[in-house]
Amino acid sequence: MTVNAETGAPHMRPRTEAGTHLELDGISVSFPGVLALDNVSFEVRGGEVHGLMGENGAGKSTLLKVLSGVNQPASGALRLAGVEHRFTTTKAAIEAGIAIIYQELHLVPELTVAENLMLGQLPNRFGVLDEKALVKRAMDELERLGESIDPNMQVKRLSIGQRQMIEIGKALMRDARVIAFDEPTSSLSARETENLFRIINALRAQGRAVIYVTHRMDEVYELCDRVTVFRDGRRIETFDSVADLDRDRLISCMVGRSIRDVYGYRPRAAGEVQLDVKGLLGPGLTEPVSFTARKGEIVGFFGLVGAGRSELMKLIYGAVAPSAGHIELNGKRVAFSTPRDAVRAGIALCPEDRKQEGIVAIASVADNLNISARRHFSAARFLLNARRERDLAREYIDKLSIKTRNTETAIGTLSGGNQQKVILSRWLAERIDVFLLDEPTRGIDVGARSEIYELLYELAEAGRTVVVVSSDLAEVIGIADRVLVMKEGRVVGDLPKAQATPDQLIKLALPH
Ligand SMILES: Nc1ncnc2c1ncn2[C@@H]1O[C@H](COP(=O)(O)OP(=O)(O)OP(=O)(O)O)[C@@H](O)[C@H]1O
Ligand SMILES: [Mg+2]
Repeated sequence: MTVNAETGAPHMRPRTEAGTHLELDGISVSFPGVLALDNVSFEVRGGEVHGLMGENGAGKSTLLKVLSGVNQPASGALRLAGVEHRFTTTKAAIEAGIAIIYQELHLVPELTVAENLMLGQLPNRFGVLDEKALVKRAMDELERLGESIDPNMQVKRLSIGQRQMIEIGKALMRDARVIAFDEPTSSLSARETENLFRIINALRAQGRAVIYVTHRMDEVYELCDRVTVFRDGRRIETFDSVADLDRDRLISCMVGRSIRDVYGYRPRAAGEVQLDVKGLLGPGLTEPVSFTARKGEIVGFFGLVGAGRSELMKLIYGAVAPSAGHIELNGKRVAFSTPRDAVRAGIALCPEDRKQEGIVAIASVADNLNISARRHFSAARFLLNARRERDLAREYIDKLSIKTRNTETAIGTLSGGNQQKVILSRWLAERIDVFLLDEPTRGIDVGARSEIYELLYELAEAGRTVVVVSSDLAEVIGIADRVLVMKEGRVVGDLPKAQATPDQLIKLALPH
């Protein structure tokens, strides 16, 4: 079935290895004050999964946006199967056979799977669009990859993993030759990740060119054939055989220096109990949860996605009302009807989903940093504090190496990981005793991670209590003094550091 766009049927091109060879030659992209890509040459072959790694702000997403026609390079050439292209619209890139699966999926939750598949499909010049055939084609392609989804299902009823499959279906419907993924596993469960990897392997076997952006080293070793490292907008190196690539070499290539131990754990003496959770029960929990956390202690919460960890944090924070139980803070019973009360009392939650919790994308870095601090001030003090706010913003930009042009830059233009750092600093800047951090390093590169860990140790050393929810096993083991494990809505283990081994944690967290 080979039909072209002008005749009104799906785009489809013969698939050959030569037909999928993508070359970028001396590409540069600049934004005011930043050279996001600096004379980058890069090549992806049909039938390979090519990893892209690099620190936050290194230019990975920008590269994908050049491929998708969102960013137009100031110089350089892009060739697909030897043919030079200059995409001025996203439509042109799609028609040339390039698909990008973004991290924030662009689906409309209220519409059905089929309706979402049709979004952005333009009718041909005769106004004809064979919707049924197109949807069927997407479904058939997914089916061939072992994935079946009901096209009449509303998207909001699907899991994030299934939604991602629809984006992939969209790419297949257009017979994309090059498919690029931007940190696709950051919100997926272990099973969904496994499924995604299976599909990516199938795409490779079909001879398509796959580009895979990630901060997770394990994924590169598991999935990629080759890996290219970016730093400060430049391509630093392409490693031709991932299998022989040394981890330390990869890390130092990314951060430009060697990091011996990302976690840099420092033991501390814990003080008295600061947070005492007593029989808390509520949505997402199947048994009452009790635990204590001391001053100066870093408590890790490990478990699979959906184990109830985020729900527990929301209950502690007062974002959701508990149906039973209560918490004590420094020996005093407290009850919060809103998160605002919790912050006043000295408990803060840095949530898992930065987009949902709303960074204000058009506001500046300084504004975003100070949003929560401002809630405590009256309008008059607000003005007086403008200077202090800017200083505070500068301090944290410096401390966490946030890559931004200045404090007034709109946060929406920062790279994903740098947005996360701003959100984190927002809370660190507060007078808070207990920090609840839900997946604080998701999307954050390895160099910046160690800076964040260092900050957590500093907080703990200053007598604060830090509770970290993480699905990253190495991270939990690396930084926590104690690890609690949750499974299916309850706490199933409470292990001191010495006993928190990978085997032990996985055994507790997995369903039997
Ligand atoms: N629309 C834009 N306006 C201004 N600057 C931008 C814009 N898009 C990207 N940048 C800047 O370009 C640089 C590269 O950003 P990019 O998003 O490509 O990084 P990244 O490697 O994907 O990082 P991360 O791992 O954090 O997602 C950053 O300094 C970023 O702030
Ligand atoms: Mg990015």
